[in-house]
Amino acid sequence: MSLKVEFKYLNGFADSADFDAIAGKTELARSLLYENRANAAGNAFHGWVNLPFDYDKDEYCRIKAAAKKIRGDSEALVVIGIGGSYLGARAAIEFVKSKNYNVFGASPKVFFIGNTLSPVETSEILAYCEDHDFSVNVISKSGTTTEPAIAFRLFRELLVKKYGAEGAAARIYATTDANKGTLHDVACKFGYERFTVPDDVGGRYSVLTAVGLLPIAAAGVDIDALMAGARASLEAYLVPGLDKNDCLRYAAARNILLQKGRSVEMMISYEPDFTMMNEWLKQLFGESEGKDGKGIFPASAIYSTDLHSLGQYVQQGQRLMFETVNVFDTPKADITVGADASNADGLNFLAGSALSKINSSAFMGTVLAHTEGGVPNIIVRGSAMDEFTLGELIYFYEKACAVSGYILGVNPFDQPGVEMYKRNMFALLNKPGYEDAKARLVAKYGNDII
Ligand code: PA5
Repeated sequence: MSLKVEFKYLNGFADSADFDAIAGKTELARSLLYENRANAAGNAFHGWVNLPFDYDKDEYCRIKAAAKKIRGDSEALVVIGIGGSYLGARAAIEFVKSKNYNVFGASPKVFFIGNTLSPVETSEILAYCEDHDFSVNVISKSGTTTEPAIAFRLFRELLVKKYGAEGAAARIYATTDANKGTLHDVACKFGYERFTVPDDVGGRYSVLTAVGLLPIAAAGVDIDALMAGARASLEAYLVPGLDKNDCLRYAAARNILLQKGRSVEMMISYEPDFTMMNEWLKQLFGESEGKDGKGIFPASAIYSTDLHSLGQYVQQGQRLMFETVNVFDTPKADITVGADASNADGLNFLAGSALSKINSSAFMGTVLAHTEGGVPNIIVRGSAMDEFTLGELIYFYEKACAVSGYILGVNPFDQPGVEMYKRNMFALLNKPGYEDAKARLVAKYGNDII
């Protein structure tokens, strides 16, 4: 186990009396997970809790085989999905490989589509696929989400045009419910290889199922090491007690800080390859906790880049946030600053210094400045940006999020509010069945909304 969580920069913001006061609620939250009981707010979607050990081993072998085939016959893999059906895979590929993975000649390139309704982005990738061999992994637990459904129609059409119906079917991998839903039915009808999103694993907790594992493996990331990291994390954070379990302590700390008015959590990293992990974390915490008028608003930044945009606010603006900083001891690469005889730029004091050392000094300097400026900091430290550490981090944050949501008293496994925009969008698009919704909107806002 390589993860370490440092709480010392909470001094002055959360003390032992605060942790003692929340210990009972935290233990109750932990026991709900392990006894597989829901809280008063909802259902127990707890399938992810034991997933690193308890997963479908046959399907896991099929995932590896499909990834190998895609790597052999495709220059591009188009991953179609939205929310929990794409963020984890994209975050994992960028974390382990690079944010610039597609730029540096990767094969297959991995494109994530169907997570917007942008005609611009969709046409760009369609145009690329016209001239390159590609496969599609369409992912939707419900099988009915509009954004990926539209993208799938477009890319399926292109596949059929290029490879014929049978050839297209051999290049489509559908990850969806085992028994029901439109995507499940389409996959059965046309004979696509199917992978399953387990019933008791919600979208944002599904990265360690086929939802994440197939695209991650297709990008050449070692999923055995990823799962091993998740197993290590599961075992490390089993023990009860805030003093012995950093995952529970982190969940408790978030709620203590919220009670003290810290309603925004900024997820921070000093590595741009963490950008999509930040997006994954924002969905995980935002969708899990933001309901019933409650929740910490999840925000993110990459430093030192954003110290030159958001840094001023964090240092001296409203005291409404705390920061959770993700750092890694060993960088994926390093460079040493050279000496310069003229020293015209005045940088010779850094000659011989590794860029990673300068980056860590920026990190430490910022933690101290922000803490002294009134912003509590929690440090989550991993050994390296590799598969094992990623598995540890994923499980750490999933568990912390579920426990934190239970402490808060919400159901961390539903997202009822996401439906609201869809109802209005369907009404405005004249979808059958939405006539009354449209009439209500027009009566309230006028005809120019159509
Ligand atoms: O976390 C969630 O459950 C959501 O973000 C879903 O993943 C997202 O809405 C996509 O849903 P689906 O996989 O059913 O298309």
